[in-house]
Amino acid sequence: MSLDRLLTWIPPGSPDETLARQVDFERLPVHVAIIMDGNGRWAAQRHLPRIEGHRAGIDSVRDVVESSARVGIDVLTLYAFSVENWKRPRTEVNTLMTLLKRYLRLELDTLLKNNIRFRVIGRSEELSPDVRHELDIGIRQTANNTGMQFNIALNYGGRAEIVDAARRAIAAGIPADELDEHRFGDFLYTAGQPDPDLLIRTSGEMRVSNFLLWQIAYSEIWVTETLWPDFRCRHLLEAILAYQKRDRRYGGIHTAPVALGVE
Ligand code: IPE
Ligand code: IPE
Ligand code: MG
Repeated sequence: MSLDRLLTWIPPGSPDETLARQVDFERLPVHVAIIMDGNGRWAAQRHLPRIEGHRAGIDSVRDVVESSARVGIDVLTLYAFSVENWKRPRTEVNTLMTLLKRYLRLELDTLLKNNIRFRVIGRSEELSPDVRHELDIGIRQTANNTGMQFNIALNYGGRAEIVDAARRAIAAGIPADELDEHRFGDFLYTAGQPDPDLLIRTSGEMRVSNFLLWQIAYSEIWVTETLWPDFRCRHLLEAILAYQKRDRRYGGIHTAPVALGVE
């Protein structure tokens, strides 16, 4: 079913098709989270200003959102702006916000056509009113969609999220002895959503940069040297194939005896 949906979207005979045919659609990661990194380096390689890298990165967002929905991913979370990214020059921050607004305006139809539900995680109340307005439209118009959940992490910090959750738990009057890991999860921005099975980071950096610290406790991590503006459906499929070869043990023992050469 998902393979058919995907094959109508990718060019026949392309490397994407070869990869798509290797995917086990019964064992997809339910939640894929992506640290989109390398826009600045992509631009620098071309002697362009950093903002051109961000502009090009929007095409990757478009491609990956629709590809993920067609593959049959249930939840996709993209890290778009961290609480630390305010340290960047004001012109770069403004460009990022403008690109985000434009993306939402232009892509709303695609989100609706693909039955995608859009949400924001992060301290969105600190964003400017025009950005919040555009986000609200996207959230409202896609609220009744039943397909893929698409989270954008904006003004997001993993530590900030944990602090916010603790504050909410206290405000809700939860007695200390009733607060366990499960209950605490209900106060996170991602309440009700499964934890990421697969965490992708582009541009080769081996760090999590304050992303989903609580939720990635047992995520499989896949890092690619590919810079975000070059990332497409093909890379997503490569990541899923790598994920499907992993043996997730959650602190337990091997579940794949063949991998040990034992019958
Ligand atoms: C990722 O690309 C985009 C954001 C963090 C908003 P960068 O802008 O971090 O690009 P590099 O890491 O400098 O190449
Ligand atoms: C992580 O990328 C944040 C986002 C992708 C939004 P950064 O480029 O900000 O992270 P560092 O500075 O390399 O850790
Ligand atoms: Mg970066």
